[in-house]
Amino acid sequence: MSGQTFEDIREAWRQSAAYWEKHRETIQSMFQPITAALIAAARIRPENRILDVAGGPGEPSLTIARDLANSGSIVCTDLAGEMVAAAARENKKLGLKNVYFCQCSAQSLPFLDCLFDAAISRLGAMFFPDPVSAACQMLRTVRPGGKIVLAVWGERSFNPFFGVVTDIMSRYVEAAPEDPDAPGAFRFAEPGKLLSIVKQSGAIRTGEEVLDFRIESDLSASQFWPLRVEMSDTLREKTSRFTVQQLAAIETEITSAVAGFFKNGRMSFPARVIIVTGTRP
Ligand SMILES: C[S@@+](CC[C@H](N)C(=O)[O-])C[C@H]1O[C@@H](n2cnc3c(N)ncnc32)[C@H](O)[C@@H]1O
Repeated sequence: MSGQTFEDIREAWRQSAAYWEKHRETIQSMFQPITAALIAAARIRPENRILDVAGGPGEPSLTIARDLANSGSIVCTDLAGEMVAAAARENKKLGLKNVYFCQCSAQSLPFLDCLFDAAISRLGAMFFPDPVSAACQMLRTVRPGGKIVLAVWGERSFNPFFGVVTDIMSRYVEAAPEDPDAPGAFRFAEPGKLLSIVKQSGAIRTGEEVLDFRIESDLSASQFWPLRVEMSDTLREKTSRFTVQQLAAIETEITSAVAGFFKNGRMSFPARVIIVTGTRP
């Protein structure tokens, strides 16, 4: 996403929404440990009012709404209207009455000050064009003593779910050098980088925690490459430039490179995220 404008980022996620909705169950299972860590770090209790920023097609909002039962509530927001629509569609099936949906940017959250007990974001902050103002907005919407909690990917070398693909693709297509501050999956992988942003927002009692977990789902090695391509606008764009023969060669190479992460129809990759917290004074 290097060099992309706010509009480019929104458009990319609008295009990705249908695929994230298609792979909803897989994604929910893959990132469930991050949800659990966010819930623990935000100290979410049954009667809480929670804000989910960049909630995509509904996670972790829907999981948290279920946990809150009917005593608390959550608002699921996202920049891409198509993501919000996908989240609302899923909730129609689930019938949860304590989750609300709103299409908005993290940089301008249309909520009153102090409205929520906590504001969380799973795998969203690295795409915000102005993460300091997003952290300020999240902090503004929580009550004094309330927490903001953001989960972002840790270093690529600890995340072979991404790294294996990037390494192989780099041999087929030349990638422009990455701007470490441009929106992208690993923009906050360096320890302390997102923490410094949360500190700049005025949060107190800030902290950073490394979560090592496993990305797991019922998926075979042959299903990995199609999933990865569909989830990523960058990969969708890159693969559209290849011939059918080149694509077949890449798929064979990647499927064989990841084979060790699959056993009995189940995928299991080691993974690392960084979880940053801050409290409203
Ligand atoms: C990797 S997805 C994560 C979605 C979801 N939280 C999850 O973990 O499954 C990143 C999400 O961030 C959203 N996003 C990107 N920039 C945003 C912004 N400036 N404000 C709000 N949401 C944004 C995208 O639309 C996308 O849905």
